[in-house]
This record gives sequence, C-alpha cells and structure tokens, in this order.
Amino acid sequence: MATHKLLLLPGDGIGPEIMAEVKKVIAWLNARGGDTFETEEDLVGGAAYDAHGKAISEEAMQKALAADAVIFGAVGGPKWDGVDYEVRPEAGLLRLRKDLELFANLRPAICYPALADASSLKHDVIEGLDILILRELTGGVYFGEPKEITDLGNGQKRGVDTQVYDTYEIERIAKMAFELARTRRNKVTSMEKRNVMKTGVLWHEVVDDVHKRGYEDVELEHMLADAGGMQLVRWPKQFDVIVTDNLFGDMLSDVAAMLTGSLGMLPSASLGAPDGKTGKRKALYEPVHGSAPDIAGTGAANPIAMIASFGMALRYSFEMVEEADLVDRAIAATLEKGLRTRDLAGQGDAVVSTAEMGDAIVAELENLS
Ligand code: NAI
Ligand code: MG
Repeated sequence: MATHKLLLLPGDGIGPEIMAEVKKVIAWLNARGGDTFETEEDLVGGAAYDAHGKAISEEAMQKALAADAVIFGAVGGPKWDGVDYEVRPEAGLLRLRKDLELFANLRPAICYPALADASSLKHDVIEGLDILILRELTGGVYFGEPKEITDLGNGQKRGVDTQVYDTYEIERIAKMAFELARTRRNKVTSMEKRNVMKTGVLWHEVVDDVHKRGYEDVELEHMLADAGGMQLVRWPKQFDVIVTDNLFGDMLSDVAAMLTGSLGMLPSASLGAPDGKTGKRKALYEPVHGSAPDIAGTGAANPIAMIASFGMALRYSFEMVEEADLVDRAIAATLEKGLRTRDLAGQGDAVVSTAEMGDAIVAELENLS
C-alpha cells in the first residue's frame, strides 16, 4: 500500500469552499484502507499575495515540486485587480505550470445522464458523451518570440505573436495522446491548420511519425482545426482523444466544455513528463472555472468540478482507476437522485449547498463501494 503526498492549494474565492469537499473525499479514502494520502496545504493567488506579496511563496513552490500531485482550487478576484502583473494571483498558477513543466492539459467533456437536457445541444447529440481534449500547454503562440507591439512611426503600430513548435514538444504530447487513447476507445484525432501554418505542417508530420513508431494499434485521424470545431458541435461522439496545440486547444476545449452544461462541472489535469528514474509525472489538478467571487461565501459553489479533478488525480497520478471510476459513479448517482447546486438547478428543483453536495457524494461513495 502506497502513501501519496498531496499539496492542496485552495486559493481564493470559492477555492477554499470547494477544497473542503475534496478533503472529505480524501478522508473517506484514507479511512477505507488501501493507498492513503498525506496532505499539506499552502497559500496561492491573492491569499499568498496578501501574506507574502507574491502569488506563490518559494516555500510553497518547493512543496509543489516535492508533492506527488498538486490539487489546486482557483485564484483571483476583484480585490487584486490593481496588482502588478508579475505578482497577480494568476502568476501563481503560471509559475506552477512553468516550474513543474506541465506541458499537457487534459480536459474531459463528459455528459452525466442526469444532465443531458441541460446542454444547448440536442439530447441525442450529447447523451453518453465522453471525450478528452489534450492541449499542448507550454509552447506555441502564447510563448513564442518575438512577442511585441512596435511603433511603426507612421501613426501605425504592429502587434506580433509568434507560433513556434519544436519536434520534441509535438512528440511528447502525441505520445501522451496515444497512451491515453489506449486506456479509452483507442482513437486519436490530431487537429492543426497545415493548410496555412508551417507549425501545422510540422505537427502533422511529427504526429504521423510517432504513430508509426509504436502506436499503430491506435486509430489516428487528422482534421483541420476549424473543421474540427464544427464537428465538435455537430457530432461530438465521433471523437475519443483530440490532441492539438495551445491556441486551438484553448478554444476547442472551451467549446467542448460547454457541450455538457455548467462550468461548475468541469475538471482538468495538467501533466508533465515522466521522471527518468521513478517514471512519475509532475501533475496539477484543478477545476476549469475561476474563483467565482460573485458567489464566494454563500455556499452556492458547485464542488463537482473540484472533486472530479481529484478523481483525475486518482486516475492519472496514482493508477487508482477503480477509485477514480468510483468517484465518477458517485457524482453521477448524486445527480441522478436530483441533487442540484444553484448553477445546475432548473425551475422547481430543490437547491443544495456546497457542503450538502459534498456530503451526498461521499455518502454515494460509501453506498457504491
Ligand atoms: P469564474 O469561472 O470564476 O466564474 C464565471 C461564472 O461561473 C460566475 O458567475 C460564477 O459564479 C460561476 N461559477 C464558476 N464556478 C462555479 C462553481 N463551481 N459553482 C457554481 N458557479 C460557478 O470566472 P470569472 O468570473 O471570469 O473570474 C473570476 C476570477 O477568477 C477572476 O479573478 C479570474 O481571473 C479568476 N480565474 C481564475 C482561474 C483559475 O484559477 N484557474 C480561471 C478563470 C478565472
Ligand atoms: Mg480558455
């Protein structure tokens, strides 16, 4: 039986409220026997800025580097709007992604049966949906140089962003896509724009090459990213794993997210390369949503995205697939029973609080196991 080290970074706004519900799930797993979790907690974002004048302290960074996984709530809020860019709450998250070298962002889009009518798309189109968008997170146009606005001197300015990808960056994300597909429905769709972008040509070539060198058992399909966007809304169930660059991934994952309803439901994982010695990856798990200052302190936050993010940690960091499935089933069962936080509630639905939703999910864990 292993003991896994978690660093909990609740952050700001609803962050601490939803983290409290994850702690209940961790406590339940620890009491149950099997692998256990040792948790440490620290400040990040505005909370860290208030305490240390920085969005994350060096001490907390060291803890993050030493942990088996970081479980992150959310950061930011109007209180820190005037704060300098380098020390803004968001800088804490960017620093973590950079120092842990989290080059891959996993965003599942899953349709829970009980919520199939909450989508703006037809029931048939999304019922049973379970796809995974894999976005390259540390390269591409958000980071490429030159990146500047220059004054052309004739009353005009020029803004420049540069999309850069090297072979190794595409190789490692492609490998991860094929490996993830093998644990799912064995299909990868790679999306780029090779018709107009050199990075797209290289992306296509490298993905093909990785496929030929050891992943030919996985079905590979290429799609232009704009057509992919259309297909994602037309018939999303045709996909299993979609792998794409930072920019297209940013947009496509947000589109995929909205297929299934509320922001309060969406988990994510950011993974690094496996360590040469231990084979373990650095990893950070967080809900897709932000700190929701508009509802912080009211008990209205939906904890499901946060709990499902911890579920992803069980799956991708700790090989606790059975427990990860159990968490997903407990969430589904809770929704099936009609429990709804305010963001999920339709007319006439009874509304439960953050804590009540967390308690109900833990009760289902107990029920189902
Ligand atoms: P947001 O995601 O915090 O909220 C958008 C809307 O969704 C709000 O109406 C909010 O109440 C609702 N919502 C979000 N999560 C919810 C949940 N779990 N349950 C119920 N309702 C939920 O995005 P917004 O308002 O644009 O940003 C608020 C702050 O969060 C800003 O300071 C922003 O910079 C920060 N932010 C942080 C992120 C992170 O920590 N990774 C990501 C996105 C935004
Ligand atoms: Mg986005």
